[in-house]
Amino acid sequence: MQALPQRRPRQPRTCGFRQGHRAGGDAVKWLVLFAFALLFAAPASAEYGDVVLNRQAQAAGVRPVVFPHWFHRIRFRCKVCHSELGFKMRAGANVVQMNDIINGKFCGMCHNGQVAWSADRCDLCHTGKPGLKSGIYGGHQTKGAGFW
Ligand code: HEC
Ligand code: HEC
Ligand code: HEC
Repeated sequence: MQALPQRRPRQPRTCGFRQGHRAGGDAVKWLVLFAFALLFAAPASAEYGDVVLNRQAQAAGVRPVVFPHWFHRIRFRCKVCHSELGFKMRAGANVVQMNDIINGKFCGMCHNGQVAWSADRCDLCHTGKPGLKSGIYGGHQTKGAGFW
């Protein structure tokens, strides 16, 4: 009876595994560094995924509004704002007046002194640097721990 050709012994497992592990560690290290670089490169007044609303604000003599979208997204269902409150899902698409807010519409459904601080805290919403245009600032991600 003919001997079957012997299978080549496998590469020892640990070796390849360890290398993969070390490479992974490096990748993580670089990712962290990269994340920090992004963090500090971002303008101070806008965090990742913030939406600036400035259709009328600056023209009316107040700072643009910086809306921290992710801060709200993790706390409320999308439909609360995008269907019940009627916010269109497009940056810069909504015509929001202070009168509406004070009367409980848009931001004012919550920023009424009950669900959240009230509309008289101008400085907490009108935080954008003059000159910021309506739009999304940063990626569709949260800035992560430390902001709240
Ligand atoms: C809860 C957030 C919030 C607060 C608090 C807030 N605003 Fe606004 N305000 C907005 C948003 C959103 C807009 C729409 C911005 C745009 O599209 O230009 C706006 C628009 C405005 C405008 C331009 C439109 C208009 O209605 O004339 C003025 C002026 C204004 N705000 C003044 C104020 C003043 C004064 C206060 C404090 C008494 C205040 N806001 C508090 C969110 C807020
Ligand atoms: C507290 C209210 C609120 C909640 C909750 C909310 N949004 Fe928004 N969203 C807004 C506002 C305000 C804008 C900006 C509209 C503007 O600029 O006129 C916006 C803009 C957007 C946009 C366009 C800007 C962008 O980032 O691309 C998308 C897409 C969007 N929302 C999706 C979602 C999804 C998906 C959820 C749920 C996971 C959600 N939103 C939850 C209020 C909200
Ligand atoms: C569905 C309810 C809801 C709506 C609608 C809403 N907010 Fe808020 N918002 C909250 C709550 C709750 C908080 C947390 C309040 C607190 O910490 O006391 C908050 C906090 C904030 C903060 C502070 C975030 C931080 O880092 O502490 C800003 C700025 C803000 N909202 C702006 C807006 C603007 C501008 C709009 C309209 C475009 C809006 N919000 C609409 C519920 C809402």
